[in-house]
Amino acid sequence: MVSIILFLSGCDSSNQSSELYDSKDEIDKKVDSVLSLMTLQEKIGQMNQYNGFWNVTGPKPKEGDAAKKYEHLRTGMVGSMLNIRGVDEVRKVQKIAVEESRLGIPLIIGFDVIHGYKTISPIPLAEAASWDMEAIKKSAAVAAAESAASGINWTFAPMVDISRDARWGRVMEGAGEDPYLGSKIAYARVKGFQGDDLSAVNTIAATAKHFAGYGFSESGRDYNTVDVGTSTLYNIILPPFKATIEADVKTFMNSFNELNGIPATGNKFLQRDILKEKWKFDGFVVSDWGSIVEMKNHGYAKNDKEAAMLAANAGSDMDMESYLYVNYLEELIADGNVDEDLIDDAVKRILKVKFELGLFEDPYKYCDSDREKRVVGSKEINEVVLDMAKKSIVLLKNENNLLPLKKEGQKIALIGPLSDDKNSPLGSWRIAADDNTAISVLEGMKKYDKNTLTHQKGADLVVGNPAFVFETEINETGTSGFQAAIKIAKNADVVVMVLGEYGFQSGEGRSRTNLDLPGVQQQLLEAVYKVNKKVVLVLMNGRPLTINWADKNIPAIVEAWHLGTQSGNAIVQVLYGDYNPSGKLPMTFPRSVGQIPIYYNYKNTGRPTYPGNNLVFWSHFSDEENTPLYPFGYGLSYTTFKYDHLKLSTDSFRGNEKIEVTFDLYNTGKYEGKEVVQLYIRDLYGSITRPVKELKGFEMVSLKPGETKQVMFTINKEMLKFYTANEKWETETGDFKVFIGGSSYTKLEADFEFIN
Ligand code: NOJ
Repeated sequence: MVSIILFLSGCDSSNQSSELYDSKDEIDKKVDSVLSLMTLQEKIGQMNQYNGFWNVTGPKPKEGDAAKKYEHLRTGMVGSMLNIRGVDEVRKVQKIAVEESRLGIPLIIGFDVIHGYKTISPIPLAEAASWDMEAIKKSAAVAAAESAASGINWTFAPMVDISRDARWGRVMEGAGEDPYLGSKIAYARVKGFQGDDLSAVNTIAATAKHFAGYGFSESGRDYNTVDVGTSTLYNIILPPFKATIEADVKTFMNSFNELNGIPATGNKFLQRDILKEKWKFDGFVVSDWGSIVEMKNHGYAKNDKEAAMLAANAGSDMDMESYLYVNYLEELIADGNVDEDLIDDAVKRILKVKFELGLFEDPYKYCDSDREKRVVGSKEINEVVLDMAKKSIVLLKNENNLLPLKKEGQKIALIGPLSDDKNSPLGSWRIAADDNTAISVLEGMKKYDKNTLTHQKGADLVVGNPAFVFETEINETGTSGFQAAIKIAKNADVVVMVLGEYGFQSGEGRSRTNLDLPGVQQQLLEAVYKVNKKVVLVLMNGRPLTINWADKNIPAIVEAWHLGTQSGNAIVQVLYGDYNPSGKLPMTFPRSVGQIPIYYNYKNTGRPTYPGNNLVFWSHFSDEENTPLYPFGYGLSYTTFKYDHLKLSTDSFRGNEKIEVTFDLYNTGKYEGKEVVQLYIRDLYGSITRPVKELKGFEMVSLKPGETKQVMFTINKEMLKFYTANEKWETETGDFKVFIGGSSYTKLEADFEFIN
């Protein structure tokens, strides 16, 4: 059967050209003409998204049986599916929608391409540590190309939730704690996924999620309540979302959490007032998994029908797996509780993205088996993720230049539960990856050291490789392997220990109250250190950990996160000095969980230091320092850098004038290296109190040994804007400080004034 839609939209006729998609107006006209053919039921169908038949990430509703889903596909009651993957599977469902439903409207196929598809790139938190926007964009672009070759045309990424709480397992999915860095990364990732031409076969629609506030869940417990003030909402949480609008993101996902008493999914203020009206977002909003029906649990909707009403009226355009739009929207419209115009608006938004993807032109454009074979797992993709992985590594400590390791004449013992792990480096959210496909550190090291390398795990982190791990299972692993590890450590010149979190220990639903090395790893580290002090600790983890003992005792520490498929190759290139690390932390490492939330852009308080001799009544802990273990922006190199001669072109400016900030950066060490130079500003007083420092610029500078470069930043009025007591994004006059350095703890500063 030739579908009515394909026929009417001229999409399957021979004179079809891609010019059709060049103009927004043209697409709007097409959307209107399709809409005019649709029954109310078919419109509601477009707003319905079903999961495929595997990879459930939440409670599965009763009605979720396959037979019903197939019937709904045939009757045009499904606009999108998620978790269908692979050309053959996608083709199957697309064929039903296009060839068996009355109008033949193609499905948009969503998937969590969070950090790679089959070839896994570093977790987003790790990528953020690169501060390298080109690399991050490329990494998203190859993930788009690989997933698009496998039938997918829409990813539920990037997650742009700012978070200051390492207990929250989902920090691994985001860009860390800072709205400025987070905004740059949000922009780069959207551009990477969507490319310059959304209708190309190697680009996919992106999703900014989770709108909004999810990263501020109380005590870091996933799905928990969020209660934040206006200033935090506008100045910290919203900027990265706004950046995705500037990158022309096609979709938004709302969120599981309530925000100040109203679930995000039913939140009109967020979805209609801010997103669609103020920001003029013209894509569509998908709910999170079952988040519409969960409004009953929140105590916001009294029943299913009311949940559907609240979500639709608030601007949630598509229902992911709650089954409530298909069940209740028609009735709600008949009752006059939902206006049909709102339905039309939602459907138009959804159809528009489908047109932009070129799905009407060719619903099977992502279903080319040859392309799938050629692209998925290709050498080119692996090269990009390897490059990204190297750039994501952060050197936390390197006493007496223990690193890099010598390529010859050094006996190395490799120890640790994660040392030969081929699964954990893939991290959480790697649904399409095959298990155990990461290059392990052991495999990587064998390429460098064929003769003298010795290896013992010493302990297991968990037994087997389960997707769902409970902390009790982790803690039950024994110490019987310690002796073998100690033995090889004794005989080695240097010990490399790979410790951290099991791959699924972070991610959704993986909140933790203890951020020490899990299981018996701390004991193992101490036992090995007792017999050999020359230990290089390689950390694999999805979030900041509390590693005070290691920081005090272990001479070299490398933060290697969960780096994906090329993990082992990237790590050994850094360990052996073939790559000089340049990563900087995108999130503060606390000394203890009790310090959380801890972040660099905190407020000064009325009692920032102890007044006079009074050691008690100031803002501090009695049993812990205020400072973190490693601050935001921190990271070392095999070389050393010196910052000097900070100069401002003027110490006051007004209106559209600028200040030029210059300084000299010296490579004072022995290696060529890259430094992420950072510019922070402090607004000394304001109509609302201002943070002690805010990142406002950064640049990657590459220097040969002994080389010096003068670096320049420009300060303008735009950079000083914030959401003021006037409820406006504006600049206030007054006194400021500018700081320059290689981390948020820099002390190199100068003063200036903004006059007006
Ligand atoms: C729930 C998660 O919160 C969301 O981020 C994800 O995209 C959906 N599940 C779909 O898997």
